[in-house]
Amino acid sequence: MTSRPRLLVVDDNRELADNLVELFEERGFSVEVVPSAAAALEVARARGYELAFVDVNLPDSSGHELVPAMRAACPGGEVLLMTGHASIDSAIAAVRVGAFHYVVKPFNVEELVATVEHALMQVELRAEREALAQQLAASERRYRDVVDSTGVLVFALDRDARAVIANRRACDTVGASAEELASCDFFARCIGAEARALARKRVDAARDAKGAIEFEAVLLGRNGPRSVRWHVTSAASGARSSDAVVYLTGVDVTERLELERRAAESEALAHMGTLAAGLAHEIRNPLNAAGLQLHLLGRGVDRLQDEGERGPLKARVEIVASELKRLEHLLGDFLELARPRPIARASVDMHALLDRVLALHEPSAQSRGITVQRALRPALARGDTERLEQVFHNLVVNAIEASSEGGTVTVLLELETGSQPAVLASVQDRGRGIPAATLARVYEPFFTTKPAGTGLGLTIVRQIVQRHGGAVLIDSIEGQGTRVSIRLPLYFAPPAG
Ligand SMILES: Nc1ncnc2c1ncn2[C@@H]1O[C@H](COP(=O)(O)OP(=O)(O)O)[C@@H](O)[C@H]1O
Ligand SMILES: [Mg+2]
Repeated sequence: MTSRPRLLVVDDNRELADNLVELFEERGFSVEVVPSAAAALEVARARGYELAFVDVNLPDSSGHELVPAMRAACPGGEVLLMTGHASIDSAIAAVRVGAFHYVVKPFNVEELVATVEHALMQVELRAEREALAQQLAASERRYRDVVDSTGVLVFALDRDARAVIANRRACDTVGASAEELASCDFFARCIGAEARALARKRVDAARDAKGAIEFEAVLLGRNGPRSVRWHVTSAASGARSSDAVVYLTGVDVTERLELERRAAESEALAHMGTLAAGLAHEIRNPLNAAGLQLHLLGRGVDRLQDEGERGPLKARVEIVASELKRLEHLLGDFLELARPRPIARASVDMHALLDRVLALHEPSAQSRGITVQRALRPALARGDTERLEQVFHNLVVNAIEASSEGGTVTVLLELETGSQPAVLASVQDRGRGIPAATLARVYEPFFTTKPAGTGLGLTIVRQIVQRHGGAVLIDSIEGQGTRVSIRLPLYFAPPAG
């Protein structure tokens, strides 16, 4: 004890009190005397004490009654009861009410001093124990905080595989309270059925071998299964059945695996893309040759004298020609995606371009009972004619495919004035429309809802338009129709000279 130990004498016998003062001040104590129980409690609460001498007979209370109140007021101090006569009964009574000891008047000085020293030691030990307990609690809190704040899942299992410890992340991921986890079988509650038996075996093995083991097993998370990589270590196993015998730490690798899977997929796609692009390129030449031969064949058919023979043959030639065209466009889309070439920044007469695209598709629209309407104003966009043709080709085909007999496809072209002038072209149909869930995916490569679709059309449209510095906007109402609007930069003639 660093400062002088405080001694409180509670006695209305002034003479005896003075003796105690003299005796203990000499021994380095600071001694205070009070004559009553009420005054004693006041001091106990206000300043405390290391040791209190309490007389059994006080004017306002009995010493026995006072002891518990003193202990409550100053839990760190000890109380010695002073009694006029010694008996087993009074000794027992003193200890029962919480006094450290009792002393008998008149005092034997040596004995009294020995008792006091003993009591002080007790006080010191208690203070030390208290400090240690606080340190322990603080350290426990720190560890708990670390365990709780980590992103790793932490479980400690007892002999019956109940999770006697589960950190916050573990509870959150599983969606259970620590109490719930402490009362049920960890494997049954937390591990996916397929991996359960194996996980149990691994954990038991780690426990019995007093070693460490790693494995992967699905954790039954509150929002669905999580892929978790587990590390198991055996605990220095405790004696009680509720002691942890094995620790499990788990790292949630669900996202990482998903990323790896996607990376592998896109790598595969990229390889396939290169391969297919090469192939597509190779197909182009024979396709061109076939187109040329077909053209010559058509001319030959035209020269036929026999009307009855010429008509059907010509129809066949036209079917093959349109199929070849389709194939050519598909190849164009594919090559564009697989290895985009640089975009030209020339003047593109959008009016003429849309006329060409519509002329190409009007016959097939008409044959399906679909009306094509146009409201086109002159407009020059800055860009790549071939690519932009591809864009509107795809949009018009989609619009026709979405329409049923009696439908209308409307193509608009206008100039947008204002702070950022642009060319605005839109293709609108009154067809089946796009459900919201589908709308979110239409730009995905290979996403299609059509039995013979490629799912490349809108992917290409967006890629080309974005590479022009433009934007695509789709408005669609399921069952009512779709409007795809394309904004493109205006062409400004370069300054002369
Ligand atoms: N005008 C439209 N009306 C309704 N659905 C459309 C329209 N345009 C595109 N879609 C939807 O978007 C999907 C993707 O279109 P696209 O990329 O052109 O590929 P594809 O036409 O080969 O299916 C289509 O399968 C269809 O579900
Ligand atoms: Mg399409």
